[in-house]
Amino acid sequence: MSWDTVELDVEDGVATLTVDRPDRLNALNLETLAAIEEALAAAEDGDARALVLTGAGEKAFVAGADIEYMRDLSTPEAQAYAELGHRVADAVETFPAPAIAAVNGYAFGGGCELALACDLRVASERAVLGQTEIDLGIVPGWGGTQRLPRLVGDEVARRLIFFGERVDATDALEYGLVGEVVAHDQLDGYVAEMASELASKPAFALRAAKDALNAANETSQAAGLAYERRVWSGLFGTHDQREGMAAFVEKRDPEFE
Ligand code: COA
Repeated sequence: MSWDTVELDVEDGVATLTVDRPDRLNALNLETLAAIEEALAAAEDGDARALVLTGAGEKAFVAGADIEYMRDLSTPEAQAYAELGHRVADAVETFPAPAIAAVNGYAFGGGCELALACDLRVASERAVLGQTEIDLGIVPGWGGTQRLPRLVGDEVARRLIFFGERVDATDALEYGLVGEVVAHDQLDGYVAEMASELASKPAFALRAAKDALNAANETSQAAGLAYERRVWSGLFGTHDQREGMAAFVEKRDPEFE
């Protein structure tokens, strides 16, 4: 499926969503953000078991919100834009399967925030990431002030946001902003393999794991632990639980649903 600036490809349970606006380094204007929202819904309807987000072209993952579009926004217009950006990031974060950001180049501002909303981030050696909003006279507006400190810790998040630092892939790995760095020409294949391995895992259990991990950011530890107990016991009796354990005991490969 495709929109003017977004491509969605679903194959063997893996949905790959590509922001396709390379002449603007995949910057997210209103139309592109709205298309991402629709593409995420389509991927969910298509029963995707893993989601990959990436950017078209050789230079950028997503170079951020569209600065040209934003420059003259009024406060109510900016609020509507922020709400859409938040809806998109939330839809990625709560997507019912693991989401991987294949960070193939620049990921600034809203682009970095889109990657932050994913479950996992793999960067190419050419990636450069940053919450650069401060130098535009604003702050991260699509979740960065909340998701960044949870991922990299408060001190590093404050440094990144206050200085608007642009960090290369090596520093991003050191900060914990990405989980892995691979050679640029291997990124797509590497992430496709990860996604396909995830798509072969028990989907319902993966979704439960994602929900429980997400809950850790939302609740007290006691409430989170209670949630984990419910999720864990709720998986008993599912096909994949019965099959996964039977296969182990019978010393054979499992066949998941
Ligand atoms: N919004 C709108 N347009 C953008 C954009 C953005 N976030 N990022 C890049 N573009 C446009 C450029 O204006 C340029 O347009 P032009 O060809 O009409 O001049 C085109 O994309 C190519 O970018 P350019 O700056 O020429 O490429 P570069 O390789 O020299 O630099 C960046 C790339 C990413 C370092 C630089 O474009 C940049 O700093 N962008 C802004 C990043 C940012 O602050 N994002 C956060 C927004 S909240």
